[in-house]
Amino acid sequence: MRMYDIIKKKRDGGVLTSAEIEAFIEGYVGGEIPDYQASALMMAIYFRSMTDEETALLTDAMARSGETVDLSRFGNLSVDKHSTGGVGDKTTLIVAPILASLGARVAKMTGRGLGHTGGTADKLESIKGFRTSLSVEEFISQTEKIGIAVTAQSGNLTPADKMLYSLRDVTATVDSIPLITSSIMSKKLAAGSKNIVLDVKTGSGAFMKTEEDAKILAENMVRIGKKCGRNVSALITNMDRPLGFAVGNALEVAEAAKVLRGEQKGDLYEVCVALATEMAALSLRLSPEDAKQAVIKAIADGSAYKKMKDWISAQGGDTACIDDASLLPQASFKKTVYAPCEGFIEKMDAEAIGTAVVMLGGGRLKKEDTIDYAAGIILNKKTGDYIKSGEQLCVLYTNNEASLVSAEAKYLEAVSFSQREPVFRPEIIEIVR
Ligand code: URA
Repeated sequence: MRMYDIIKKKRDGGVLTSAEIEAFIEGYVGGEIPDYQASALMMAIYFRSMTDEETALLTDAMARSGETVDLSRFGNLSVDKHSTGGVGDKTTLIVAPILASLGARVAKMTGRGLGHTGGTADKLESIKGFRTSLSVEEFISQTEKIGIAVTAQSGNLTPADKMLYSLRDVTATVDSIPLITSSIMSKKLAAGSKNIVLDVKTGSGAFMKTEEDAKILAENMVRIGKKCGRNVSALITNMDRPLGFAVGNALEVAEAAKVLRGEQKGDLYEVCVALATEMAALSLRLSPEDAKQAVIKAIADGSAYKKMKDWISAQGGDTACIDDASLLPQASFKKTVYAPCEGFIEKMDAEAIGTAVVMLGGGRLKKEDTIDYAAGIILNKKTGDYIKSGEQLCVLYTNNEASLVSAEAKYLEAVSFSQREPVFRPEIIEIVR
């Protein structure tokens, strides 16, 4: 089979067969197909798209291109979640212990942050001693013992996606629905869970800026995931402002603990309850109403908080800092930002606020950058709040004093004010099942 013919067929609008898709993935990962031919195929797919059948075949072939995790011993209890990335998104730290406390099995592979969005592995590494690099045996046995294990994504998982994503990134072919779907869902398939809940974020801080695009992606990923034999649902959630009040690794760990102690409600709590409800409904085979009650109870009776500490302890982390946030990494410098005028906060550009956190040292611009775990922002006020001139808007934290000025300017650029009360979208925009 010649790669030339596969490219030509897709260029002319044809439908690729299973054998052609397999040959492409095998040949590309094996080094026989050069980048320029793979790029040409990506561009042909970008313009001609793919049928569901082709996307499912591509997803499956990518999932099998490297190591895969076998969670079949957990039957229907294994459950995973994936977020398309946001600002202040610490939901994994909250929903994973909730699900484990209810008897589900959360064996999760997670990534690091890049650009304005954070990564769960970085947040966890802000806890002293926490190991994010578990062997496969540790990963499975910890899941068996306490119902939860979270590890940084193994280097051998879905090499086809790593290679193709780098290529798409430099050839203007990232924003193709079948290519995004196969990229995300291949990683989820390889990670092994029977049940998958997707959090597709939309808004100023999200990859999918519009509700329409988020819906198309969510529906596509749910259909393809099901075609590949998994139970999948997706929530489309609001990322017009950061989620919760904390943005930055250690600050987010402290906020997650607060939610699990039942001390904080609001947008973060609401999104976590909705995600956990969907995960419980699929993995524990509960009705949505029973699942929601179980989730709320797991927070209210402290069982999810206890599970969070069992989990952190199992991975070598210091649980004292979960009870007492002052034991998490602390910043040497802080700066309070005051409101420049009176009125309602009309809009918050979540991406710009994420960028302000990167400026403070809390994120990466390049994969090799190191992170200041203590850096970040605590938002005192959010969209819809009325503020008086001179009131506290937020506090910036960093170990690099020189970054405070530019981060403050970035933050103020991100926030706009109005004399009229703004109308904003609900946190849960839609559920796709
Ligand atoms: N995130 C991914 O993992 N893959 C894409 O293609 C886009 C976003």
